[in-house]
Amino acid sequence: MIELNAVSKWYGHTQVLDSCSTSVTNGEVVVICGPSGSGKSTLIKVINGLEPFQKGEVLVETISVNAPKTDMVKLRARIGMVFQSFELFPHLTVLHNLMLAQVKVLKRSESEAACRAEKLLDRVGLLNHRNKYPGQLSGGQQQRVAIARALAMDPVAMLFDEPTSALDPEMVNEVLDVMIDLAKEGMTMMVVTHEMGFAKKVADRVIFMDAGKIVEDCSKTEFFDNLPARTERTQLFLSKILPH
Ligand SMILES: Nc1ncnc2c1ncn2[C@@H]1O[C@H](COP(=O)(O)OP(=O)(O)OP(=O)(O)O)[C@@H](O)[C@H]1O
Ligand SMILES: [Mg+2]
Repeated sequence: MIELNAVSKWYGHTQVLDSCSTSVTNGEVVVICGPSGSGKSTLIKVINGLEPFQKGEVLVETISVNAPKTDMVKLRARIGMVFQSFELFPHLTVLHNLMLAQVKVLKRSESEAACRAEKLLDRVGLLNHRNKYPGQLSGGQQQRVAIARALAMDPVAMLFDEPTSALDPEMVNEVLDVMIDLAKEGMTMMVVTHEMGFAKKVADRVIFMDAGKIVEDCSKTEFFDNLPARTERTQLFLSKILPH
C-alpha cells in the first residue's frame, strides 16, 4: 500500500531524513515515535507529497509520489491526513467542512456529499453539531470533525501527525476511541503519536526515529516486550515516556 525506499531529505545543508525505508501493507497500523526533531512529521508528509525530497522513492499503491507526471491532487485525495492543529476552515460549518473537498475534488453532487458527511459525523458522534462552526466546538470535537472530513474522501490510508497532543487530557480518549475503531475496521494507518497505550492496543508495528533515521521498525510485541534487543536510544526514550 505504502512503500518508502531509501528516502532522504535535506533542508539546505541539514539532512532531516536519512535513507528511510519501510512499507505498510493493506490494513496495517503503524505507530511512529521518537524524539522531537527526529523527522516524524517530515516522514509522513513526504508520503502524500506535502514535502518534496531529494533522494529515494515513495510509492502509494504503486504510484510514485515524486514522479513528475503523478496527479498530486488525486493522490492526496486518496490519503487522509490529520494534523495536531485540526486545520478546519473556520468560516464553514462542520457540515460544509466535510462537503467542500468532496464536491471540489471528487466532483460529488451537493446532496451526495452532504449525505456522506452526515453519515461520518454520526459515526464520530457529532451529527447534532453539523450546523455549528469549528470555533463553537471543543478541541476534541474539532479533531473528530477533522478525522470525519478526511474519511469523507474515502481514503485508502490515513496519516495522523500527533492528533491528540494539542488536546486537554480529558479530550484525548474521545479522539483515540475514534482512531481505535478505524484501526479495528481495517483502515491502513500511520500514526505519529506518543500515546503508547494506543500503540499497545492497535498498532501492528512501531517505528522509532532518531536524527532522521528509522532506528527501529518492528512488531509491537518486539518493540515493547523485548527491550534488551532495542537500541540504547530507544530504551532511553521508552524509559522516559512509559509510565513506571
Ligand atoms: N521548513 C523547515 N525548514 C528547515 N528545517 C526544518 C523545516 N521543517 C522541519 N525542519 C527540521 O527538520 C527536522 C525534522 O523535523 P520534523 O518536524 O519532521 O520533526 P518531528 O520528529 O516531527 O518533531 P516534533 O516531535 O517536534 O514534531 C528538525 O530538525 C526540524 O528543525
Ligand atoms: Mg512533528
